[in-house]
Amino acid sequence: MNIAIVGSGYVGLVTATCFASTGNRIIGVDIDAEKVRRLSAGHSPIFEPGLEELMQAQLSAGRLNFSTDLKAAVLASEVIFIAVGTPPRPDGSADLSNVEAIARGIAQAMDSSRIIVIKSTVPVGTGRRMSEIMMGLTAHPFAMVSNPEFLKEGAALEDFLRPDRVVVGTEDDEAIQTLSELYAPFLGNQQDLMVMGREAAEMVKYAANAYLATRISFINEVADICARTGVDIVQVRDGMGADRRIGRAFLNAGVGYGGSCFPKDVQALIQVGKDVHCDVSILQSVHERNERQKIALAEMVLTRFGADLSGLTFAVWGLAFKPNTDDIREAPAIRVIGRLIAAGAQAKCYDPRACPNAAKVFAGQPGVTFCADPYEALQNADALIILTEWSEFRTPSFDRIRAGLRQRVIFDGRNLYQLATMQRQRIEYYSIGRPASIPRDRQGATLTPAKPAGTLGQAQA
Ligand SMILES: NC(=O)c1ccc[n+]([C@@H]2O[C@H](COP(=O)([O-])OP(=O)(O)OC[C@H]3O[C@@H](n4cnc5c(N)ncnc54)[C@H](O)[C@@H]3O)[C@@H](O)[C@H]2O)c1
Repeated sequence: MNIAIVGSGYVGLVTATCFASTGNRIIGVDIDAEKVRRLSAGHSPIFEPGLEELMQAQLSAGRLNFSTDLKAAVLASEVIFIAVGTPPRPDGSADLSNVEAIARGIAQAMDSSRIIVIKSTVPVGTGRRMSEIMMGLTAHPFAMVSNPEFLKEGAALEDFLRPDRVVVGTEDDEAIQTLSELYAPFLGNQQDLMVMGREAAEMVKYAANAYLATRISFINEVADICARTGVDIVQVRDGMGADRRIGRAFLNAGVGYGGSCFPKDVQALIQVGKDVHCDVSILQSVHERNERQKIALAEMVLTRFGADLSGLTFAVWGLAFKPNTDDIREAPAIRVIGRLIAAGAQAKCYDPRACPNAAKVFAGQPGVTFCADPYEALQNADALIILTEWSEFRTPSFDRIRAGLRQRVIFDGRNLYQLATMQRQRIEYYSIGRPASIPRDRQGATLTPAKPAGTLGQAQA
């Protein structure tokens, strides 16, 4: 099949590469000429495990090309996917200007019928609105399909190649048949292709993301109660998650959700609900809890070290909003570091992939430096702060941590270590939804006295 995919970001590039890998001829279109140049030379502008290698293989096979020319791509393709960004406007609603610009461009370029597939996350009714706009610009027939994308950054290829389901929102028989052929190589069985109304498909994506975000804000709220009552949220999570009706996924207490999807999609759904006069108090609480959660760890640091952090340096492990990606959009790390440097601290940061992106955000901020090695970041730092659960942080050398830090203190925003391990390692340890672990001598006196509990949680001997 000849396919154009407009937008070559996380979703568009993965979609283009995976469809090319099953033999289709793909033109990836992007407005960013520099990005198109790099992609054409075989360089992925994003880090996603396995993506660059698979993309290079498709380029070499001649099945994948990149271009800035939307008109030529439309003329050469039967199916056109729209996979551009839909960022939040100041009021939280989705900005559809990129999607609309492309819908107009497609309509103006079409010379016969086409199938247009919206893969971007768009509010209910967008497909209908884009159809109306296009009908004003072209006499050629077209089907407008909603096909939301559910891939996760960090496991995007795996998710695309083996999806839980593919949602196709249209009543057009030819479009259903075409998409069913296109997705067949990735589906275990045909039932995994779920055909529904276009508006329902648009809503599935928001409802799914808002539900996952709700689980995260829920567990973070329970974690807060746990911290203040001396209970370990990890044990509570395990006890809850063993119930098959609940499960363990998306129930890890931490520094809140980030990335380019959950924060904006929760806000966009709130806005859609408000527009139709719905009570959206659950969604609003999910968002507000997450905003508080993002700076909870910084507040712990301030409680422990005092409001003025001048003269103190913090090692930061992890900048990406989650592991296996270099994406720092809405990453809690950016907020935490911002809060600490506003209080006078210095931050020495390490992340296996995201330092270049974070360096752009903190360009010109003398308080923030980047290190190529996690242990280098610890040198002469007063404490270690962990903000992303990269695998390489899970079993570190505590000897090297103790040797590097000026004070043996860890703030762990991802609950990577057992409290008993921290006791044994004689490290003062603060995590999310668990009692603080303060090392004590044989007489029971704390070795590194902490400030009063507050949000630090009750100390555990
Ligand atoms: N990132 C994810 O994990 C993910 C997952 C599922 C769905 N989504 C949704 O998919 C959409 C795309 O997200 P993303 O993360 O891939 O975005 P992105 O910002 O990584 O990529 C968007 C690309 O579109 C290009 N673009 C913008 N306007 C254009 C135009 N007029 N013509 C051609 N190209 C244009 C940009 O240059 C950029 O390369 C969003 O609606 C998002 O909510 C994202």
